[in-house]
Amino acid sequence: MDGGSWWRDGVLYQIYPRSFADSNGDGIGDLPGITSKLDYLQWLGIDGLWLSPTMPSPNLDWGYDVLDFCGVHPELGTMDDLDRLVREAADRNIRVLLDLVPNHTSDLHEWFIDSKRSRSSDHRDWYIWRDPKPDGSPPNNWLSVFTGPAWTFDEGTGQYHLHNFLPQQPDLDWWNDDVRDAFDAVLRFWYERGVAGFRIDVAHGIVKDRELRDNLPATPEDHPRVKLIGQQQNYNLNRPEVHDVLKRWRAVSDEYSPQRVLVGETLVLDLERWAAFYGSGTDELNLAFNFPFIFAPLDAREMSEVVATTEQLLPVEAWPVWTGTNHDTRRFPTRWCNDDPARVRCAMMILLTLRGTPFLYNGDEIGMPDTHMSPEQVLDPVKIRTEDGLGRDPGRTPMHWSPEPGAGFTGPDTEPWLPFGDYGACNVAGQRNDPDSMLNFTRDLIALRRRLSELPRGSYKPLNCPEGVWAWRRGDDVTVAVNLSDLNQDIPDMDGNIAIGTDRARDGETVTGSLVLAEWEGVIITNRPSTG
Ligand code: NOJ
Repeated sequence: MDGGSWWRDGVLYQIYPRSFADSNGDGIGDLPGITSKLDYLQWLGIDGLWLSPTMPSPNLDWGYDVLDFCGVHPELGTMDDLDRLVREAADRNIRVLLDLVPNHTSDLHEWFIDSKRSRSSDHRDWYIWRDPKPDGSPPNNWLSVFTGPAWTFDEGTGQYHLHNFLPQQPDLDWWNDDVRDAFDAVLRFWYERGVAGFRIDVAHGIVKDRELRDNLPATPEDHPRVKLIGQQQNYNLNRPEVHDVLKRWRAVSDEYSPQRVLVGETLVLDLERWAAFYGSGTDELNLAFNFPFIFAPLDAREMSEVVATTEQLLPVEAWPVWTGTNHDTRRFPTRWCNDDPARVRCAMMILLTLRGTPFLYNGDEIGMPDTHMSPEQVLDPVKIRTEDGLGRDPGRTPMHWSPEPGAGFTGPDTEPWLPFGDYGACNVAGQRNDPDSMLNFTRDLIALRRRLSELPRGSYKPLNCPEGVWAWRRGDDVTVAVNLSDLNQDIPDMDGNIAIGTDRARDGETVTGSLVLAEWEGVIITNRPSTG
């Protein structure tokens, strides 16, 4: 793969560090634990890692409340551990991306402590402080993404501070040039340590309306997520000026090398606005997470429509990114597939064969389901926002490495920070030696991407097919067909050899004229011999 496009051709993998591998037996995953699994990740065929926050944090929002943007959380290890991870990953051709959280800091960050000290302190205007309305109420009607008002009153200085998330996550003021300069320095600090890029938290939302205008109420036509919050977030997030900041970071990244990559958490539900985060295609984000796709059900019509619109809207030089799970969404095997193994394989085949960069989340490769938990076990501050009241934790529990006590994640007698779930039923060790397993299916799909250049690079062309089936051509020679229905389906005009089927017994089968797919079955067909 040529250097400049490793992240276009490659498969990236999100690690939730607290839950990946615990090297010191304290029940919390850590950086040496990740390093110890690099051989596994190389074996799987992973090209890059995104680590959810690794910086010091009081952990009210599990690392997304940062104390020091240039540090390492002691629970996860030391700076030496991080350097070693980056180095040892590079030895295996794996790049490391960190999570950058520019929207807010922890309220215990020294910038905020100074800011809160007095109205005239040096960092006062690094955050968004405003007087109360004459009746003492908050400056405007903005609501926090995590429920309740987005403003908290400070008795000491008599003003409110803005927080789009927890009160302990005060929002930085991105109209302030000092804030912009401080983050340029953060990017440079990590690039100089060999980090390959960043996933940017709340990339669509860091700049706020300069006049702090009231948000409009949600309407019945709005997306369910907007209705859940109760107002449209046109002023506290989603301001057009955010593009200037992202372009500025792209310029900093490109100074280092075109191999650096910025991937945004662009949580916008309108694809036209989403596509704008790529700028001209070469001057803004390299990749922007596609939430309409993540939130679509595993349905041929709905998903293919998102993909078609995405393909149509992207600037020529921009590159899509496809994800099923992240640490906020719950796991796709449960959310999309109801833990049905056939559906999980179809979903994995889709993620790894669309035109664009796939991001897997740790555990996706073994089809790891959400963990059943009781409300008392939940540590996530936003449990209130999900129907079952369990928040995001069922998708954040420790990785299942083995069926032994401790799940291969931690020591046999250690209580993990979140409950394990059923690691006997689904784990890496059990699947690794079984050629028919989900893990080997995922690995074989990744290997096929390397073998057939059409899979990473070829154009995407949807094909006409029966209701419930989604089929597309990649380049001239590769066809993918997935039957996302409960019926057997007969698909006309299919010819070639099955390179990989979700039913592995069909690998190598010749297809002439038409293809019959069983319910929830998918295949990749190539015009070249499958053993290539
Ligand atoms: C998005 C992150 O993915 C989520 O985990 C976090 O709670 C919020 N941003 C606030 O940082």
